[in-house]
Amino acid sequence: MVSGGAGFIGSHLCTRLLERGHEVVAIDNLVTGSVANVRHLRSDPAFTLIEHDVSQPIQIEGEVDYVLHFASPASPIDFPSMPIQIVKVGTLGTYHMLGLALAKGARFLLASTSEVYGDPLVHPQPESYWGNVNPIGPRGCYDEAKRCAEAFTMAYNRAHGVDTRIMRIFNTYGPLMRTDDGRVIPNYFRQALTGAPITVYGDGTQTRSLCYVDDLVTGALAVLDGPDPRPVNIGAQDEVTMLELAQIIKRVAGSSSEIVFRPLPEDDPKQRRPDTTRAREVLGWEPTVSMEDGLARTLEYFKTALSVTR
Ligand SMILES: NC(=O)c1ccc[n+]([C@@H]2O[C@H](COP(=O)([O-])OP(=O)(O)OC[C@H]3O[C@@H](n4cnc5c(N)ncnc54)[C@H](O)[C@@H]3O)[C@@H](O)[C@H]2O)c1
Repeated sequence: MVSGGAGFIGSHLCTRLLERGHEVVAIDNLVTGSVANVRHLRSDPAFTLIEHDVSQPIQIEGEVDYVLHFASPASPIDFPSMPIQIVKVGTLGTYHMLGLALAKGARFLLASTSEVYGDPLVHPQPESYWGNVNPIGPRGCYDEAKRCAEAFTMAYNRAHGVDTRIMRIFNTYGPLMRTDDGRVIPNYFRQALTGAPITVYGDGTQTRSLCYVDDLVTGALAVLDGPDPRPVNIGAQDEVTMLELAQIIKRVAGSSSEIVFRPLPEDDPKQRRPDTTRAREVLGWEPTVSMEDGLARTLEYFKTALSVTR
């Protein structure tokens, strides 16, 4: 069972789980996801999509081996427009998905986030770092809901013995991202492919590490199959500045867009990079897709999604 299965990461995850021979039930209220993301799976008898808000209770017939909780709007553009839904899906949604895992005796995987580290004071961030989060800022609805989701998960693990796993996902990109979700990769590709100016926030020296979605999904399954409930960072190690990324995307897309600078949004983290020692040593996981390759594959998707012919 995959909550958020019609989202960007969730749909890739459903595809991979079906390839692994599982039956997959995706539960999604389509608030930021889309039926189009799972259209290629609809004819597979092993795949079912249930339209449902997981912040409300749900009963599922039959056996469930795994509950993968990926439902949550994840883009900063969603934070001001749906802060209550975001808090609810991180808290109540997690509670209901944990309840389902408990009732079914299923292993539970939480899709947590690097946002639990907030604007970190430690670089790179190991799982042992507790974070630097502003609970009342514009990102608080997401960051604190995910921190609560982790606390809920450990509470169910300790109090009810639910077999839980937590992955902390760092910035991920690839095909099926929403073209208008406000995150840096869709922004830059849209601007580069339509000839609009590419907007870099601040002076562009803030960095991100960007993981291609195929690597991320491999990491999710490694965490799921992993040995213990400790959180595991899953993300790319290589850091790129936002100005460098604008230049790379401009080049990959063969764009003549100019690069312009805009004020940095409030609470925008200056730097984020995972320490992935645990993923490497405990799970044997490392990203394998280079940024050049990942961006080339993503370019093809954005060209089609934006119907740009070049
Ligand atoms: N994309 C990233 O870089 C990233 C980084 C860190 C963490 N994550 C986490 O990974 C998960 C997936 O993120 P994504 O980038 O694919 O986002 P997404 O918005 O594409 O996918 C989220 C899915 O959850 C669904 N959803 C939201 N609220 C729901 C609810 N109450 N009930 C049922 N379905 C609901 C949405 O409709 C959507 O299909 C999220 O939990 C997110 O917090 C993503």
